[in-house]
Amino acid sequence: MSKKNVKKTTVGVINDDVLVFTAGRDVVLDKALIEADCLGSAAHATMLSRIPLKPRLFSKDDLKRIVATLGEIIAKARRDEFPITLEDQDVHLAVERYLTARLGDLGKKIHTGRSRNDQVALDLRLFSRDQLSDAIRETADLAAVLVELGRKHVHVPMVGRTHMQPGMPSSIGLWATAFAESLLDDASILMHAYELNDKSPLGSAASYGVPLPIDRQLVADLLGFSAPCHNVLYANNSRGKMESVILMAMSQVMLTLSRLAQDLMLFTMPEFAYFNLPAAFCTGSSIMPQKKNPDVLELVRAKASRVLADAVAVYDLVKGSPSGYNRDLQEAKEVFMNGLAVTRSCLRIMAAMLAETTVNEEKLLAGFTPDVFATDRALELVAAGMPFRDAYHHVKENLHELENSDPRKAIARKKHLGATAGLDFSLYADRIHAARSFVENEQAVTRKSYQSLMGTAYSLA
Ligand code: ARG
Repeated sequence: MSKKNVKKTTVGVINDDVLVFTAGRDVVLDKALIEADCLGSAAHATMLSRIPLKPRLFSKDDLKRIVATLGEIIAKARRDEFPITLEDQDVHLAVERYLTARLGDLGKKIHTGRSRNDQVALDLRLFSRDQLSDAIRETADLAAVLVELGRKHVHVPMVGRTHMQPGMPSSIGLWATAFAESLLDDASILMHAYELNDKSPLGSAASYGVPLPIDRQLVADLLGFSAPCHNVLYANNSRGKMESVILMAMSQVMLTLSRLAQDLMLFTMPEFAYFNLPAAFCTGSSIMPQKKNPDVLELVRAKASRVLADAVAVYDLVKGSPSGYNRDLQEAKEVFMNGLAVTRSCLRIMAAMLAETTVNEEKLLAGFTPDVFATDRALELVAAGMPFRDAYHHVKENLHELENSDPRKAIARKKHLGATAGLDFSLYADRIHAARSFVENEQAVTRKSYQSLMGTAYSLA
């Protein structure tokens, strides 16, 4: 290797092209992990200052200086003034470089008993914890908008369809809260993913632990995790798996959003005109002056494919990975961050759009034809004593005799649990409240931990 084409890094002299190739997108993507990396380092240093080594690794004063400098880095990062250079390769070595420049030997000791492998796993878990909290809240917010839409229009009839063909009388209340309930199930999946993710991998080091009396429980407590991951090898192997679980959860959210988008596209066609999308959420055409296009909905449908592709990409990266750290995992970072950001942006835009979407009752009523009441008629005969199959054939043979009944009365007659007149709005309110409280409680724990870990060196973003 000629001297000209190499760079000196903290961990060796590396060929320029190799450095560019191996650091990849980390120098950019790791910006999102700076704060997590500093918080993790503060917890690690605090633990190191307390473990029974003689002499102690860090005195109380050393620790204060380390934490203050980590606080400095966080403040710089928030102003976008903390660089991650190619020579750093990633956020971990950038932080170590800064600490060493400021604090000399204290900086050189910070990596005692850890590896970048458990460090990045930790950073991603801290990052995910934040992202999942926000995503759960945003999912609950969209569910709340849909529940409100359903409540407001609980008595507004809508033709219920199967195979896309007219089926039975339904309502806007039933339609809107069906999507709300789907989102609340998605929120449950996200909460489960949150719980799996809420464990500290630090102390796994390269993947196999270290021959030092480190205190993994203490680090987990300091960062407000529910526990440490137990097995150190699994702590490392869970990187990638965790991202895959979270993206699979996100793709469930996207599955709901895509179907909601699809229904809205269909039912805003002029041939239906059941709903009116807010003009500011639609786009025009460069040639057709009259156009009002539902581009937002089309993009949500398309992004559902992308998020699932992100989930599959991570899964596929991991499925062939042998035990222990492999650099392949680095490739999961970009798709992971993309999948999270895309899902969250879809949740927010759908909530804003639906909050202003209006319902056209006249058009909804006009959609009813006599045949939509065929099943209700057969069941009327059943209630009067006729066996169902006889009633079915009777109505089928006399379809021309069916009259256009009042759809409002038809939906009021379905009073059983979960039907048009049996919707339990308090159940939805409870589930929305539970999801929001989950986030509030978790965020309170996190904030409190960060505050006591960092002291005055830290202000909440
Ligand atoms: N940037 C790396 C990643 O995302 C950090 C870990 C590097 N570890 C290593 N042994 N090269 O995976």
